[in-house]
Amino acid sequence: MFYYIIEEGNNEKGDFMQERYLELIKILNEANYNYHVLDNPTITDQEFDKYLRELLIIEQEHPDWIKENSPSQRIGGDVIDEFKKVTHEIPMLSLSNVFNEEEIMTFHRRIEKEGYHPQYVCELKIDGLSVSLLYEKGKLVRAATRGDGITGEDITHNVKTIKTVPLTLTQPIDIEVRGEIYMSKKVLEEINQQRQANNLPLLQNPRNAAAGSIRQLDSKVAAKRKLDCFIYHLPNPLDYNIATHNEALQFMHELGFKLNPNNRLVNNINEVLEFINYHTVHRKELPYEIDGVVIKVNSIIEQQELGYTAKYPKWATAYKFPAEEVLTKLKDIIFTVGRTGQITPNAVLEPVIIMGTTVSRATLHNEDFVKERDLKIGDIVSIRKAGDVIPEVIEVKKERRTGNELPFKMITNCPICGSILQKKPDQVDYYCVNQKCPARSIEGLVHFVSRNAMNIDGLGEKIIEDFYNMGYLGTVADIYSLYNHRLDLTMLEGFGEKSIDNLLLAIENSKNNSLERLLFGLGITHVGSKTAKILASHYLTMEELMTSTVEELTEIPDVGPIIAQSVVTYFNDAKNISLIKELKELGINMKYLGSIVKPNEMFVGKTFVLTGTLSAMTREEAKMKIEQLGGKTVDSVSKKTGVVIAGENPGSKYQKAQALGVPIWDEEEFLKNIAQD
Ligand code: IVH
Repeated sequence: MFYYIIEEGNNEKGDFMQERYLELIKILNEANYNYHVLDNPTITDQEFDKYLRELLIIEQEHPDWIKENSPSQRIGGDVIDEFKKVTHEIPMLSLSNVFNEEEIMTFHRRIEKEGYHPQYVCELKIDGLSVSLLYEKGKLVRAATRGDGITGEDITHNVKTIKTVPLTLTQPIDIEVRGEIYMSKKVLEEINQQRQANNLPLLQNPRNAAAGSIRQLDSKVAAKRKLDCFIYHLPNPLDYNIATHNEALQFMHELGFKLNPNNRLVNNINEVLEFINYHTVHRKELPYEIDGVVIKVNSIIEQQELGYTAKYPKWATAYKFPAEEVLTKLKDIIFTVGRTGQITPNAVLEPVIIMGTTVSRATLHNEDFVKERDLKIGDIVSIRKAGDVIPEVIEVKKERRTGNELPFKMITNCPICGSILQKKPDQVDYYCVNQKCPARSIEGLVHFVSRNAMNIDGLGEKIIEDFYNMGYLGTVADIYSLYNHRLDLTMLEGFGEKSIDNLLLAIENSKNNSLERLLFGLGITHVGSKTAKILASHYLTMEELMTSTVEELTEIPDVGPIIAQSVVTYFNDAKNISLIKELKELGINMKYLGSIVKPNEMFVGKTFVLTGTLSAMTREEAKMKIEQLGGKTVDSVSKKTGVVIAGENPGSKYQKAQALGVPIWDEEEFLKNIAQD
């Protein structure tokens, strides 16, 4: 009996302590939100530390009590072995760019031409890296990088350390939001001061610093980098009955996310220009770097009707601030050889920091570019860099010449293999036409393994160059025989068994890629990744494509005579035919693995326009379905439109279809016709 009473007493104490624990979580999370998200501290740092210490002691005594939303979960400590790949159910698209008022107006007029007079939301374009945050029942379950837009990397362990990313939301809902992880100017400066004191290389700019921090396997390292995050995109607004982007922002704010305080709803394009002008002047005062302004159509229905290209939404664009120009010395001009043998002159510059990165090279494009600018070695030149664009030499400061400058002379022989360069009469570029030129082979290999081609992780440019020079790689087929040299490779400096085995596995996995990746990787002139997809989905197998004719090829929409001729020429070359045979024998897939068209007479050869919201599928799914059945989708209604499919709340396209007498299907009819395949 006595024993029982003591137990009961202990329980009471335990209950009390657990209550206190929950209270501490609440106090600390509120303080954290007020300080970091609202920028409005409610308790002092000392008080915060006191509560945090109390909480940590309780957690040490009762590890089984620890809650996912405890502030201790942000301290970092999780270490992962590798970044898991994640698939974005809705692709994470990028934005198209505009660089001046004229291009902004072209973007706006294109929207007006579709019959809209939209309100826009203007936002600052934060210079960081985009992130997708997934919550289930209000709890953060996954954070991922954008990657190639479809496949990103799981960075949950590091994102949890970002104080402005809520671990739990104010509502227990399932939701995905997207935003930008960034490092403030102040934090970057502090970290660099420390790194300088410790003789470590400096972090070059906030974007690289943020990206480097998020790619840490150990979350303690990421936690020290004090990253921050603004949320700006809700991929599925209709799931939450949200009709405008502005409402989506408000909704995300209410859920506990940090939004950028400068977001502004405007009524017309003039107000967009005012917003841009204001921030062009005031951007230097912001505590973080921005590289432009993002302009988004406010209405979600209008967004959906405007639709997307393969890469960008048509309802948004990014205005990029004018590139910074800096003066430096042109120390030399060197020549590089591309995959196709194209020779490019490059400027070797006195290193300068421009937009936060050190620049020591810039492209000079071709002989004409150098001659038109009358560049001489030793000149002072102005160079420019805009975002990710390769730095470019703008002009020479002739008034700064000393007379010691040396004239530019175009080379006549390949700088790598020495063969005589060739130039067609109507072209500006010189080419090395030696098929065996090492520079061409190396570039070809680099292209073959690149992300949009065979996507082989672990074969970077430097490694390819080394393997080439050591004789392990010559043609792309040799990549698939690298396993024969496994033992030799593991002995090389900088490699171990694990890294070589990972590489060999990535090579092996790439054999199962769909045909379009191989086609793009082969580097057929004029066949980019989009054309490769068109060709692969049309012909389905390599064999079929190899026997196609120029006439057949030009009948495919989006394939013009230049591409057609280039494809036929490529497959007429005995060397290419034997390479493909070799790749096939090595087990590389030669078939298209995407969804295959199943012709349906209701759809074949017709153009379709979608308007309004469908309940059974998203607009993208509907488009895919239509294309699989042989139809084509376009964005605007004309006399030539075959059918307009009208979901709920159709827009002006519906009236236009009625006026032009274009047949209209409601969702029910659409679904019925799909089912007839
Ligand atoms: S919206 C479909 N809004 O800019 C909408 N992006 O150049 C996609 N970015 O990949 C993005 N600030 O990483 C959006 N306020 C903002 C942004 C923003 C920065 C980044 C983002 C995106 C890139 C496109």
